[in-house]
Amino acid sequence: MAEELCFFTKEAFVIRPTKKTPITLRMIILIFSMVFGVYICSVSLRQSRFRSHTNLIEVVVSRHCRRPVASNWEDPLIHYPVPRTYNRNECACNPVRFFAIISMQRSGSGWFETFLNSHINVSSNGEIFSVKERRSNMTAIEATLDKVYSLDWMSSAAKNECTAAVGFKWMLNQGPMEHHEEITKYFNRRGVFVIFLFRRNLLRRMVSVIANSHDRYAKLLNGTHKSHVHSANEAVILASYRPLINTTLLFADLNKTKDLIDKALEFFKSTRHIILYYEDLVSNRTKLVDVQDFLGVPHRQLVSRQVKIHTRPLSDHIKNWDAVNNAINGTEYESFLNADYHL
Ligand SMILES: *[C@@H]1O[C@H](CO)[C@@H](O)[C@H](O)[C@H]1NC(C)=O
Ligand SMILES: *[C@@H]1O[C@H](CO)[C@@H](O)[C@H](O)[C@H]1NC(C)=O
Ligand SMILES: *[C@@H]1O[C@H](CO)[C@@H](O)[C@H](O)[C@H]1NC(C)=O
Ligand SMILES: *[C@@H]1O[C@H](CO)[C@@H](O)[C@H](O)[C@H]1NC(C)=O
Ligand SMILES: *[C@@H]1O[C@H](CO)[C@@H](O)[C@H](O)[C@H]1NC(C)=O
Ligand SMILES: *[C@@H]1O[C@H](CO)[C@@H](O)[C@H](O)[C@H]1NC(C)=O
Ligand SMILES: *[C@@H]1O[C@H](CO)[C@@H](O)[C@H](O)[C@H]1NC(C)=O
Repeated sequence: MAEELCFFTKEAFVIRPTKKTPITLRMIILIFSMVFGVYICSVSLRQSRFRSHTNLIEVVVSRHCRRPVASNWEDPLIHYPVPRTYNRNECACNPVRFFAIISMQRSGSGWFETFLNSHINVSSNGEIFSVKERRSNMTAIEATLDKVYSLDWMSSAAKNECTAAVGFKWMLNQGPMEHHEEITKYFNRRGVFVIFLFRRNLLRRMVSVIANSHDRYAKLLNGTHKSHVHSANEAVILASYRPLINTTLLFADLNKTKDLIDKALEFFKSTRHIILYYEDLVSNRTKLVDVQDFLGVPHRQLVSRQVKIHTRPLSDHIKNWDAVNNAINGTEYESFLNADYHL
């Protein structure tokens, strides 16, 4: 197995010189490719078997797919995954971009994913790391990521062979913070594009978090708990619950959330990324064009059937509004009190 892989690697790295290249340059290139080949091979051998398999097969296929221009064979941003479980058929030579949405609960990431998945060439596979075993250590995390990026992750979102961008959403409390160094390395090595999706108004997020966890047992929609709804009627019913916010605990919670977001942006700042805010997406759907550009997919009209739950000014959604308003007025979080978008 190992020998075979090394052979492929070396093959893939030989650059065919053009007629004009002087002999010395050819020698330099040859020596460089050999040294580099040996280096890559030794690195590959240290990796798990599955990973070596995925990466190296990808290199071979990419050589087959690409025009015979040797210039960009090393581009880590272009992938031609070879799924283990099916054949990409006519789309085998369509390049695929890898992405990860880094977000938090109740920040619009579910909604955002429905937009992405309405694109015929995008597969965003949901909260795959909600399952603890998949994030228990870096080995498990890498195996999971490799499976997603080889297009072998089967979910309702998977478009399979003609996927041009594949990813998932990763909540901050599901492992990325604990393993940020190794994950950053993985993202940079494999060319994973990061979409940060956060909410500016953390007080509105808090209302949504409390209401959602209340509904887990209250089950306001005819005895069913729903985190996302598809009709205005359902939204009104869910929003009828108005949380009481403990003004003593409020600031510690807002500070904690703010710190977590700041830290995440810092941890992953060396990755290729864009930062999106839920509020901007709500008021300006053109942001979705930016996202499609970022993912390198053809522009399409993206749609979602989800309906926003808390649509009114915060004063209508918080039971002890006066107390909360008084507590926050004059602090750094003052702007959260105002309407930050119009529907
Ligand atoms: C990593 O986690 C997986 C799944 O929980 C477990 O099976 C495996 O033994 C762990 N490996 C290491 C090196 O801890
Ligand atoms: C998008 O999907 C369609 C239909 O499956 C396919 O024909 C097309 O080549 C894909 N486009 C890209 C950029 O992969
Ligand atoms: C609840 O059930 C009633 C009667 O079956 C139905 O008319 C109503 O639309 C349901 N409401 C929701 C929010 O699903
Ligand atoms: C707010 O939380 C603090 C600390 O847990 C508690 O002592 C206090 O009683 C709570 N206040 C209300 C109004 O629930
Ligand atoms: C929240 O952070 C601010 C500074 O940003 C600080 O003044 C305040 O004491 C913190 N509050 C709590 C409860 O941690
Ligand atoms: C909407 O988003 C697009 C893309 O980011 C941007 O160019 C445009 O200025 C935004 N429009 C408004 C009104 O903010
Ligand atoms: C905040 O406090 C200032 C000064 O006490 C007051 O004039 C203002 O109306 C308050 N804002 C809100 C939203 O209550």
